[in-house]
Amino acid sequence: MGSVLREENGTIRQGILLCTNPRCQCEYPIIDGIPIIVADLRTFISQNISAIASRCDFTAEIESLIGDCCGPGSDYNVRRQYLSTYAFDHYGDLDPLEPGLTPEAPGSIVNLARKGLALAGPPPQGPILDLGCAAGRTSFELAHAFGEMVLGIDLNLDMLRTAAGALHEKSVSYPRRRVGMAYDRRGFPVDFPGAEQVDFWACDATALPFAPGQFSLATSFNLMDCVGSPYDHLLALAKMLKPGTRAILSTPYDWSVSATPVESWIGGHSQRSQNRGASEPILRSLLAGGGHPMAIEGLALVAEVCDWPWSVRLHDRSRVQYSTHLAVVEATGALPAETAP
Ligand SMILES: C[S@@+](CC[C@H](N)C(=O)[O-])C[C@H]1O[C@@H](n2cnc3c(N)ncnc32)[C@H](O)[C@@H]1O
Repeated sequence: MGSVLREENGTIRQGILLCTNPRCQCEYPIIDGIPIIVADLRTFISQNISAIASRCDFTAEIESLIGDCCGPGSDYNVRRQYLSTYAFDHYGDLDPLEPGLTPEAPGSIVNLARKGLALAGPPPQGPILDLGCAAGRTSFELAHAFGEMVLGIDLNLDMLRTAAGALHEKSVSYPRRRVGMAYDRRGFPVDFPGAEQVDFWACDATALPFAPGQFSLATSFNLMDCVGSPYDHLLALAKMLKPGTRAILSTPYDWSVSATPVESWIGGHSQRSQNRGASEPILRSLLAGGGHPMAIEGLALVAEVCDWPWSVRLHDRSRVQYSTHLAVVEATGALPAETAP
């Protein structure tokens, strides 16, 4: 800890972390209680400055007026849409204004996470990493299920703020998209057993700032097709896990070039090849014993379900229904080459 600049109710709201390696000595800020620990801090801060500097105290009316002025497709409205989608999926079942929603509903993230946990087998003993945690519900689920420390990691600050609000304020407040640029502000209390074991950090799931072999479980729900390098994400998973522990991965393989260059997609191209462009066999072949020339010997497939539902709400009259590939992998202890001692 370099300096604590603002502390509220035992939480450091603003501060600066300092790398103790004398050859590094980089500073990393804590903003709104969220440590930002990324490799290229200057680029991250400058690319995310509108989220970092955004105000959360506007009335719904001012927020709506700003949204109308910025227009559809603007950074402001894209960020609102994203937040609307994930806050709804993560916390809608706790909103008194959504009486029909339950966490068990097929397609919900809680339902998907619970299926993954059932597939993963024995409970982990030790810290858990929830990669691409978005608004944070799965991190709370993991802490409740296992009573272990859970670190939720994401790069989206709007979502991390929502997650941090659920943790520190015990409340969720978000703009719920109704239609077009019309959003209704929703706010309600939440209280998750075991929440004191949870924290949320801004870190890159393809370049994690932890020493190898620290975690007893990692989850990556619907993240792999959102990162620049799915392969580096798998390598990072292999490095983070203690030997013999497991990771739960789900993905709808919904590739887009805005997130992942085509060269890095796992399947989804080159349909002239033996796998006819399918993603699932390529993922299997990339794991230990899978026969891919770049197979990650540190991760072995132990269980999978090829079609578990996950749905994403866009607005009152639109949802995307995904069918995810849910897989459990085990850390074999064979560290990727560059981390091997
Ligand atoms: C499709 S959403 C899934 C969110 C959540 N896991 C769920 O299933 O509801 C993908 C999430 O990954 C985050 N993300 C994308 N790239 C990331 C990266 N390199 N490191 C960490 N998080 C990332 C996004 O900000 C987003 O919150």
